[in-house]
Amino acid sequence: MEVGPVPNLASSFQPRSDLRGQVDAVRAAGGPGALTPVLCGGSGVGKTQLAAAFAVTAPAEGADLVVWATATDLQRAITQYAQAAVRSRLPGASGDDDEADARILLDWLATTTRRWLVILDDVTAPADLAGWRPAVRARAGSWQRPG
Ligand SMILES: Nc1ncnc2c1ncn2[C@@H]1O[C@H](COP(=O)(O)OP(=O)(O)OP(=O)(O)O)[C@@H](O)[C@H]1O
Ligand SMILES: [Mg+2]
Repeated sequence: MEVGPVPNLASSFQPRSDLRGQVDAVRAAGGPGALTPVLCGGSGVGKTQLAAAFAVTAPAEGADLVVWATATDLQRAITQYAQAAVRSRLPGASGDDDEADARILLDWLATTTRRWLVILDDVTAPADLAGWRPAVRARAGSWQRPG
């Protein structure tokens, strides 16, 4: 399932497979940071497009849940996490309380054996997201590219 407004790929989209390969290498290397690669760069260099390409191909690569959260501010990210919790019918997600539903999503992400990809696009103040970043308590649940 895909939740959130995954941007369309540009009509002349270039896969940039070298760059994508670098992200895959970080993920495959394991260790701290492998679960949450960060794409940094100036405005318009293609961060969102590269992330969208990951989002588009993730289901075919085994991700059961793809969440695209625009994270310009924490409230927006929380709203989108909450939507993901409700649309995924996670136990306890009511649709009445975004923060509570967002916590339910994060708990599920942390413990599930399903595969998922969460993209936080447009993070401007990373510190604001403290305590609201997806994490895993059991590595088995994280999404890894097969092979
Ligand atoms: N891989 C690509 N192939 C073709 N066009 C691209 C690619 N990446 C970026 N572009 C073009 O550049 C534009 C800006 O890219 P994108 O939105 O990904 O940048 P960004 O790094 O996320 O910028 P910002 O920091 O402003 O969010 C896209 O709308 C698209 O037209
Ligand atoms: Mg962007």
